[in-house]
Amino acid sequence: MPKQVIAVVGATGAQGGGLVRAIQADPAGGFSARALTRNVDSDKAKALARLGAEVVKADVDDLASLRRAFEGAHGAFCVTFFWDHYSPEKEIAEARAMAQAAKDAGVKHVIWSTLEDTRKRVPLSDPRMPTLHGKYKVPHYDGKGEADGVFRELGVPTTFLLTSFYWDNLIYFGSGPKRGPDGKLALTLPMGDKKLPGIAAEDIGRCAYGVFKRGSEFVGKTIGIAGEHLTGAQMAAELTRALGEPVAYNAVPPAVYRSFGFPGADDLGNMFQYKADFEAEYGGARDLAFSRSLNPQLQTFAQFLAVNKERIPLG
Ligand SMILES: NC(=O)c1ccc[n+]([C@@H]2O[C@H](COP(=O)([O-])OP(=O)(O)OC[C@H]3O[C@@H](n4cnc5c(N)ncnc54)[C@H](OP(=O)(O)O)[C@@H]3O)[C@@H](O)[C@H]2O)c1
Repeated sequence: MPKQVIAVVGATGAQGGGLVRAIQADPAGGFSARALTRNVDSDKAKALARLGAEVVKADVDDLASLRRAFEGAHGAFCVTFFWDHYSPEKEIAEARAMAQAAKDAGVKHVIWSTLEDTRKRVPLSDPRMPTLHGKYKVPHYDGKGEADGVFRELGVPTTFLLTSFYWDNLIYFGSGPKRGPDGKLALTLPMGDKKLPGIAAEDIGRCAYGVFKRGSEFVGKTIGIAGEHLTGAQMAAELTRALGEPVAYNAVPPAVYRSFGFPGADDLGNMFQYKADFEAEYGGARDLAFSRSLNPQLQTFAQFLAVNKERIPLG
């Protein structure tokens, strides 16, 4: 039987990379990965080629390149890159390009890596958190959630995949514990005593692979994944165990987090507030047993830390 091709956007990145590696690690699974990248000569692209993935040049801002890259594919994994440009409008336009290309190429199953449109629960008139850029509460969520409608409007057979906070943010995104003036480590989050669903980024791609393996079961549905739901105190306790040094939990109000001043601090402050204010719904949409059924290798935070603790910068 010829293998079914899965075209993977963001293949050299966190989510897409995990999917390419999951597909190529399962040669008997009936799928093969087509890795999309803007630069087929990069070290990351070459590493995917060495795994046996087909590596093709494509840019989500170039519809014709997406059409070529999706041609003949059974499935496509679609993701956007908010933190490269901070623009929900650009994400929506890119989602439209990917949906159109998938439709034109006759792709049978798209997974759209999405997040909630928080405005459905917190309308712009709700004063609990500031409205940002005039029309968003959590820009990097709202644009993705709004773009769900594009896949529906174009009639693309789509599974809507709600992802979770990457624990890898502790390594790459400045979210790790920091030393205070007293020299002691503290993990700062505006989550109070509420639980934050988190996941090892590599597990997102593995879960997406589980979705493709289950055929059309989730097409038209929204599903969510997480590796564990942990309070800030629980995360600090796991970090303490892993690092062998005390890590305190520094719970700050969302307004304080918004005021930290780094790019996107207001967006992230609103995001954490949303997760805390709607803890039951947000966590409920990211069931752990379901996630594990898609990906039996799903890591806990402790397992993630056991492998990655040395990579966390302790500034
Ligand atoms: N951090 C979190 O906790 C978290 C949680 C949930 C969701 N998210 C969302 O995840 C998304 C990012 O996904 P990720 O973390 O997998 O990305 P990533 O690791 O930053 O990787 C992005 C990859 O996509 C490629 N890329 C960038 N711009 C492109 C373009 N115009 N056309 C084609 N490819 C392009 C780049 O590859 P080349 O250079 O090889 O082209 C890059 O390697 C964001 O929208 C973010 O909001 C993040």
